Amino acid sequence: MKVLLLGHNGQLGKILKNKLQKKINIYVDKKYNKKIIEKKNFINLYNEIKPDIILNSIAYTKVDNAEKNNEAFKINSNFIEEIGKIISRETLFVHFSTDYVFDGLKKNPYLITDNPKPINNYGKSKLEGEKYIQKLMNNYIIIRTSALFSSSGTNFVKKMCELIDNNKEINVVNDQYFVPTPCDDLANIVYKILLNYNKKDIYKDLFHFVGSGSSLSWYEFAKLINKNLGSRNKITSISSYELNLPAKRPKYSVLSDKLIRNKYSFDEQSWEIFLKHVIKEIKS
Ligand SMILES: NC(=O)c1ccc[n+]([C@@H]2O[C@H](COP(=O)([O-])OP(=O)(O)OC[C@H]3O[C@@H](n4cnc5c(N)ncnc54)[C@H](OP(=O)(O)O)[C@@H]3O)[C@@H](O)[C@H]2O)c1
Repeated sequence: MKVLLLGHNGQLGKILKNKLQKKINIYVDKKYNKKIIEKKNFINLYNEIKPDIILNSIAYTKVDNAEKNNEAFKINSNFIEEIGKIISRETLFVHFSTDYVFDGLKKNPYLITDNPKPINNYGKSKLEGEKYIQKLMNNYIIIRTSALFSSSGTNFVKKMCELIDNNKEINVVNDQYFVPTPCDDLANIVYKILLNYNKKDIYKDLFHFVGSGSSLSWYEFAKLINKNLGSRNKITSISSYELNLPAKRPKYSVLSDKLIRNKYSFDEQSWEIFLKHVIKEIKS
């Protein structure tokens, strides 16, 4: 089984690479970097490696900047359309999407059967990407996730640790609810998927996957990070309206992930335990 990992320098990509390369034949792009989204380069890489599986961790993830430029659509949607036209019907495409495909008006966890209705450009571009996969590809697994965190890359936990360390004033929104997801946990489920992979099977799956444990607001998450750091910094709770960022965010984007957990049962650890490990790693 040959696996091509796209986006191995990103937050999730790094963890996938470290975790999977010990167990599986993983190929990464060392030639094209940011130019891999050009059609001819992707074709060259694909023909050179001839992967059975592509894990796509490439994405434009700057949610506020996506309101001001066209990059999100270029990377999260157009690039996926190109891939859909290039790869064979046999290649399994494993792709990551987001809770931000939903508008956040629901009061209980989103199911895969709920209608997506994104309220910002990032969410719109990711939903378009999902649609291209479903329309153009024969063999795919899409995993929507939320609030990824790890000790590498850019994420809320790292940002909070930095602000708390530097005694900065911290204002965090109290009206957006979600479930944090450790990248390690997501990488473990991807590993399970790869272990169960059968070349003869055709996959057409859409899953949700989030950390194991309760949902909370960004403000509550920040307070928990503060507590785990043993710090007493003041964290101020504010509304999204007061923070007034360029991109709107869903007020409630909790995803129900029973489906994937039932299909690929694996050892669960709560995201709160992962948070303690990740904070230790960040501080070391
Ligand atoms: N982060 C979250 O909280 C979150 C939540 C829900 C869903 N997701 C989804 O989970 C997946 C992984 O997210 P992440 O946090 O790992 O994102 P990330 O850290 O921003 O990584 C994105 C990756 O895409 C690459 N990339 C961006 N623009 C590119 C371009 N023009 N050409 C080639 N590569 C490009 C980056 O390369 P460089 O490193 O060279 O810049 C990086 O490797 C994404 O699909 C994201 O939508 C993330």
